Order: sequence, then structure tokens, then C-alpha cells
Amino acid sequence: MKLSTAFGTVAAVPDAVAVFLFEDEVRSPRLPSLNRATVSEIGKLIAASKFAGKKEEVLRHYTDRAISPMLILVGLGARKEFQWKTLRLAAGAAIRMGRDHGAKSMALVSEDKLADDLGAEDVTHALAEGVILGNWRFDEYRKIAPKDVKELNSVTIYFVNETRKKAADRVIKRHIEIARCTNLARHWGSQPANVVNTEFLAREARKLSAKGLKVTVLERAQMQKLGMNLLLAVSKGSAMPPKLIIMDWNPRGAKKTYAFVGKGLVFDSGGLNIKVASMEEMKSDMCGAAAVLAAMNGVAELKPNVRVIGVIGTVENAIGPDAYRPSDIYTGYNGKTVEIGNTDAEGRLVLADALAYTVDKYKLDGLVDLATLTGAAVVALGHFADAIFSNDEHWRQTVMAAGERAGERQWHMPLFDEYGEEMKGEVAQLRNVPGHRWGGSCTAAAFLKEFVGTTPWVHIDIAPTAFPGVVSSIQPKATASGSGVRTILELVTGKD
Ligand code: BES
Ligand code: ZN
Ligand code: ZN
Repeated sequence: MKLSTAFGTVAAVPDAVAVFLFEDEVRSPRLPSLNRATVSEIGKLIAASKFAGKKEEVLRHYTDRAISPMLILVGLGARKEFQWKTLRLAAGAAIRMGRDHGAKSMALVSEDKLADDLGAEDVTHALAEGVILGNWRFDEYRKIAPKDVKELNSVTIYFVNETRKKAADRVIKRHIEIARCTNLARHWGSQPANVVNTEFLAREARKLSAKGLKVTVLERAQMQKLGMNLLLAVSKGSAMPPKLIIMDWNPRGAKKTYAFVGKGLVFDSGGLNIKVASMEEMKSDMCGAAAVLAAMNGVAELKPNVRVIGVIGTVENAIGPDAYRPSDIYTGYNGKTVEIGNTDAEGRLVLADALAYTVDKYKLDGLVDLATLTGAAVVALGHFADAIFSNDEHWRQTVMAAGERAGERQWHMPLFDEYGEEMKGEVAQLRNVPGHRWGGSCTAAAFLKEFVGTTPWVHIDIAPTAFPGVVSSIQPKATASGSGVRTILELVTGKD
């Protein structure tokens, strides 16, 4: 699907025109991008229908008296409560309505006061993201007959004048790329583990070397030599080879270096402490890895002037004759000994070695890990925000500011020393679970902290939002959300 910008009045006849309207101004909208006949038709439609411009309200109408045969009105709610995220959802609702009713080309028209309030850049951000995320589907296994496939070929965003179009054009490429990368992460995160296995992730990473990234994949034997026994322990019950994938974007003249580490459990059965509920959702336990891999795709395309390192620890947590067991003790890459209290607390073990390796090999200005780490984070926050932990206040604020700009929600959680005390082992230095289940996302974060030294580090537990995403006009049901991708790419390619 081609997404472009234009200015002036909608001239070429698109299959559908979508208009975004505020509740307060629904009876007298200013729509300079539409010809008189179309504006008049919209006026009559609003008068005749009960369309009130409420948030998430969508109306479809067919006519032969306007520039397009299909008019779609989308409500934005009250102007004083308006946030740009509302426009993102409205764009998703608009293009789905058009696409699902056979439109192949669409024009999106926002009344000009919207761009007065938000600025053409933010309007573009919201509309581009809403269109691309809203258009995404996970239907490759449904075997839809080609004649029944409903597909948009082109969407054009109209601005009232050339100045605004130019402002939009300065930012649209970046927003399109970020949204596409989010869809990539959604695609991988929605796939089962018999498709997206550890080798699949390594293959996808290797593809990035053609785009200028240095990609290294550490195999089991190399990790054994390096002493990554925590990551390797988790992989012991599975026939799938464990891997540590390292992707390095190192442009000449880069002054800062950032690293992103993702939990890549292609499936988490729980191991010998086998899961008793919702095991099937654990195909999504590689969403942290998917976010890092997709973001590195974005880095390869957007070429920021900073060094960006993406690291993925990928394994399967399964059961087999050699599976690791509760009470086992392993020594990690950084020399710390860990006793296993529960084989289902495996993500922190994989991340422990991945993080320790990353801080050992690179001098970092900032480190972020992303992981579907704990059910406790979901208990704490529901599906509406990810849990963020940090050892460095300034870096946390920087990451959260990027999250805010990207329209992803993170909630600051504590890392009190007491949580760390609870992760001390009975016989080893550390244990992978405390003696109780309270504050489970905090104790997990405290465990990770033992492996990052003094590097400014942020841990984002994306279990709340990664899978399934909250269903909306930009998120289909029972699919991964791609959470984290936009925050990472905003952080390394956005303003600051
Ligand atoms: N992958 C899970 C966490 C998870 C749970 C993610 C639900 C998304 C939705 C993780 O490996 C896990 O099993 N954590 C345990 C830790 C416990 C054994 C201390 C949990 O959260 O129950
Ligand atoms: Zn687990
Ligand atoms: Zn897990």
C-alpha cells in the first residue's frame, strides 16, 4: 500500500474519502480540501443521520453527488479532550471501513483546524501510523481466495496548503518505517514456535547484514566457551539450538552507543515447572526479541547517527531428558552463581547472560532490555501499560520521554534494594525466584540488575501489552502488538 501526501482540494476520484470531525464542530466543519458538492453532501448527511462526531464513531455513506462514491465520517470526540492518539485510532477505523468495503484508493481529509492545533508533523505521525497499523492483518493461514482479498493500494493524506504538506513530507518516511517495523514485530510475535524458531530469528537477523549491519550469531559451542551457562541451562530440555544474536549498526562518527537486548523465548512451556494455564500464549514469549529485531530493521533503513547494538538471546524452554531442574546451580557469564528455584522463571536467566555479555563487550551510553518477563507485571498493570525499571534516573526519563512521543505507555516501577535482598540464594549467590510471589515483576527486575554493572540500564517488562494487544482499530484480536519497537526507534531516530 502506497501512502502519500497532497495539498489543495481532492481532485482525482478516490474510491473513498474519509473525514475526521470533532463533536463540537460537527455541524459546521471547515473542509477546504473538499469541493463544494462534497462538503454539501457531508453537511446533508450529518443533518439527516445521527452522526455526532463522538470518539470512535464511524459512518459510511454511498453517494453520486460527491468527489467519491464512498464517504466515511469518523468522530474525534470533544476538542478539549483531544490527544493525537485519538487521531491514530480514527485513521485506523477509517481505512478499515474503506478497505473492508472494497475501496482500493482512499483520501484522508482532516479539517484544517486540526493541523492548527497539532501541527502538520503530529497529524502525519498519527495518520501514517493509524493507516499502516490499522491495515495490518495476520491472515496468512486463512487461505482467503484471491478474489475475496480486500486490499488498499493507495492512501493519500490531504493538507490545506503546500507549507503543511512540506512539513508532513519531512517526517512521513520515518513514521511509515516505524509503523512497518511495528507490523514486522507483530507478524513474528503472532507466529507459532514451529515457524518462528531460534533458527528463524537468526536467519532474519542475518538478512540485515545486506543492509549494513554487522551480524554475529553465537552458537551453543561458542556460548559454552564463554561460560553463558544460565542461557544454556534454559535450552537443555529442547531440541532447538540456542543462539545469541548480535546486530551492530556502527556509523562513522557516531558519538553515542546504545544497546537493546530482547528476550527470545520462542516457546515457554515452563520447563519441569510446567505451566498449567494459557501455555499456548507462550508462542509470544519472544516479543522482546521481535521488537529488537524489527527495530534493527528500522535502524538499517533510517540510518541514525548513533551506534545501535541489538542483542537477542533465543532459546526454547522445553522438557527433555537433559532439561534443567529446580535446585540446579549454574554459573553465568559474569561469574555469578544462580540456583534454580523455578524453571519457569527462565527469561531472566537468558537475559542475565545476554546483558552481562553486552555490558562487557561494549561501552554503552544506555542499555534497554525488553522482555515478556512476568505475569506479575500483567497483574499490576493489566494490558494498558508496560512496566519500566531502571538503575539510572536520567536514562529512564530519556526512554520514557521517547515512549511518550511514540505513543507507547510505560509505567515507572520501583527497584528498592529489598527486592534484591530477596533474590539472594540459599546456597548460591543468587536464586532465580524469591521465596514468595509478591512483587514478582520487581524481584525479576532486581535479579536482572545483578548483570548490568554500572551501565545506565532500563528494563521494560512488556508482558502487559505484547500479546495479545488490546483490540482496537489498529490492533486485531489474538495477535502480537509489536510493543517496544516504536519506543526504541523514537529513542534512536527521534528528536533529542
Ligand atoms: N514468559 C513468562 C511471563 C509471562 C506470563 C508473560 C504471562 C506473558 C504473560 C515467564 O517466563 C514466566 O513464566 N514467569 C513466571 C515467573 C515465576 C515462576 C516467578 C510468572 O510470571 O509466573
Ligand atoms: Zn516462564
Ligand atoms: Zn517466559
